[in-house]
Amino acid sequence: MIYLDNSASTFVKPKEVIKAMNDALIKYTANPGRSGHQASVRTAMQVQEVREKLSKHFNAPTPENVIFTNNCSEALNLAILGMTKQNGHIICTENEHNSTLRPLNYLKNKGLIDYTVARQSKKTGICACDIAKHVQNNTYMVICNHISNVNGDKAEIQEIGEFCKNHNLIFLVDGAQSGGHENIDIQKFNIDMLTVAGHKGFYAPQAIGSLILSGKALPEPIKFGGTGTNSLDLNQPKEIPDRYETGTLSTPSIIALGAGVDFVENHYEEIRNRLDDLTTYLNYELSKLPVDVYTHPENSNGVLAFNIPGVHSNDFTNYLDERWGICVRGGYHCAPEKHKALGTLQQGAIRVSFSYFNTYNEVSRLVQAVKHFIKTM
Ligand code: ALA
Repeated sequence: MIYLDNSASTFVKPKEVIKAMNDALIKYTANPGRSGHQASVRTAMQVQEVREKLSKHFNAPTPENVIFTNNCSEALNLAILGMTKQNGHIICTENEHNSTLRPLNYLKNKGLIDYTVARQSKKTGICACDIAKHVQNNTYMVICNHISNVNGDKAEIQEIGEFCKNHNLIFLVDGAQSGGHENIDIQKFNIDMLTVAGHKGFYAPQAIGSLILSGKALPEPIKFGGTGTNSLDLNQPKEIPDRYETGTLSTPSIIALGAGVDFVENHYEEIRNRLDDLTTYLNYELSKLPVDVYTHPENSNGVLAFNIPGVHSNDFTNYLDERWGICVRGGYHCAPEKHKALGTLQQGAIRVSFSYFNTYNEVSRLVQAVKHFIKTM
């Protein structure tokens, strides 16, 4: 099998991550932060260590500004629903995932907010000028996907952050596809809230994500319940991270995420180069074939989308899977506005997404499969 669907979830996990998860299930299964006994404290210390790692990685002001969530979608829900401002206006972009678009649509249907989808004027990604033209008197937040999970378009988040700071707008960045692959400094980039997926660029297991807060914007909680602190008080604690971390945390996933952060930091340049090389190579090979490629050659972020004219993307991805043992994702990638912008609402798109563990040979095999399919059409 050749796995090229790493934007859905990285499939090969580093041995360090597997070991950390395994060790956690042996040594750290007490409930962190609930009981005061030694087993619980030992586990809580492990969780705290990962909070510290993530806070350093993204330059959050304190480890407590790192909120663990069940996934990146939950982090986006918390950031969007928790910041609802009645009669306010939000700007998002055509690159948003349904994890952003659906909460926005829910708030809009409830009559609470309105939102605008900013379109890309440049071929490579959203810039500050694309956002600026939609600002209204009641705009209070900008939500920007960093790297598109459909075609790898990359937003100019540093410039957009500067713009948001100058216009007193909350800046929320969806880092699902960029976390682990890109250097993101939330203080330098003026990001107020950053959402992260553990199972993609950090090579962690599924069902662990994070919301990283600069401290400027503090969403209202959207989940209420036990935090292990102030148990006699029926109000949700005000302090972070307890304000948001209701219920028992997924300790083994958090500990494995910590190992993923170490892995990424130890191999950062190699990961970047691998993604760059493989995406560039595939883009170049596809440019010689009668196919439609939707990824700009400058965007070598490990995600590439294309179509074979006249063929539905899902028909081709099924063929790849069944005949060649190659796993990629067709359809719409939970990103309807991006497909609208690309003109692929009928066909969807064939999305190829790489990880550190992919090779040139695997890409060559994919290209061979595309050539064979076209020849036999
Ligand atoms: N958001 C994930 C993807 O792009 C699941 O496939």
